[in-house]
Amino acid sequence: MEWQIPLANIDFDSREETAVLEVLKSRWLTMGGVTQAFEEEFASYVGAPHAIAVANGTAALHLACLGVGLVPGDEVIVPSLTFVATANAVRYCGATPIFADIESEHDLDISLTSIEKKLTERTRAIMVMHYGGYACDMPGIMNLAKVHGLKVIEDAAHAVGSDIDGRKLGIWGDIGCFSFFSNKNMTTGEGGMIVTNDEDTANKMRLLRSHGMTTMSWDRHRGHAWSYDVVELGYNYRIDEIRAAIGRVQLSKLDLNNERRRNLSLLYREQLEELVPSIVLPFNTSRGTSAAHLMPILLPVGFDRIGFMEHMKSNGIQTSIHYPPIHKFQTYIKDGAAHFDLPVTDSVTGREVTIPLYSGLTDEDVANVVHSVQEAIYTVDN
Ligand SMILES: Cc1ncc(COP(=O)(O)O)c(C=O)c1O
Repeated sequence: MEWQIPLANIDFDSREETAVLEVLKSRWLTMGGVTQAFEEEFASYVGAPHAIAVANGTAALHLACLGVGLVPGDEVIVPSLTFVATANAVRYCGATPIFADIESEHDLDISLTSIEKKLTERTRAIMVMHYGGYACDMPGIMNLAKVHGLKVIEDAAHAVGSDIDGRKLGIWGDIGCFSFFSNKNMTTGEGGMIVTNDEDTANKMRLLRSHGMTTMSWDRHRGHAWSYDVVELGYNYRIDEIRAAIGRVQLSKLDLNNERRRNLSLLYREQLEELVPSIVLPFNTSRGTSAAHLMPILLPVGFDRIGFMEHMKSNGIQTSIHYPPIHKFQTYIKDGAAHFDLPVTDSVTGREVTIPLYSGLTDEDVANVVHSVQEAIYTVDN
């Protein structure tokens, strides 16, 4: 389907093309010097001493779970209102995701009070997800984690460039994970990054990224090593030089693009204001500066969501749902998730629709989307 206004779009130009071409001409495609430069630039951007580039955000989350030492029997408190990869990563380690509720219909991030209620003697970690790029209550969550001796992993897939008081999201917790999937604020097609302050954890995750091998092809190519040992059961979670090259260019554009996203979100909020409180615009206030990854709206209670999305579609406007809650997925129900009582998550997830947001969206596009939302709210049968 050719959308007139897609949900997300990519900001690529001749700079990405040139960067890719340079890698192709170099004839070294697997992880090497370009990836190292990407890691260094990303580390410096977020203000972390260690950044590890990986194949995708899911691999980042899996390595983070291994990095904090999760083992079967451990419990990790996670939101249900997130992409399934957040909780899957916990299960890859044989640990159990324990779902916590979100704050409210105005703040779709994990609730500190709910986290506190889910703590048991088995809780090893808290995994937060900064919904739409809007920061969770990191000062409160870090404080709680400290009191109970818990690790904190940030799923910052939506939040590249977000901060609280100038401190970037991803470096508040023990480990931060980013995704560069093609709908994200910066993209490499598939790709991800892990950041941490802790050198031992960084070394462990680096080792696990590449089969647990002590040296890599790149070291041997440069004549720095002849052989290797395998000291852990690792994976192939490497990124490649083509993606890393795209990532470097995308990172250089990130701040400007995020600023445009924030301005567009404000424009949406101003123009949709007349429909409030019929509809809810979550995150009208936020903690710190958001990367404005998503523009979620909540339809009136009981409103026909599919009818709404069909109406938007009839105007060539793509919409989406973020997210069907994880505790309602079959594989999670089979795993015992049905008993989780998450009233706020349940009340919000049937009403949420995400409208288009990307840096290339024009003010006119926003006006067209808003017009279509108004039409839908006034005309869709309920
Ligand atoms: C919140 C969240 N977590 C994790 C992921 C997984 O990232 P990836 O698709 O790069 O594996 C995504 C994105 O797709 C995401 O949105």
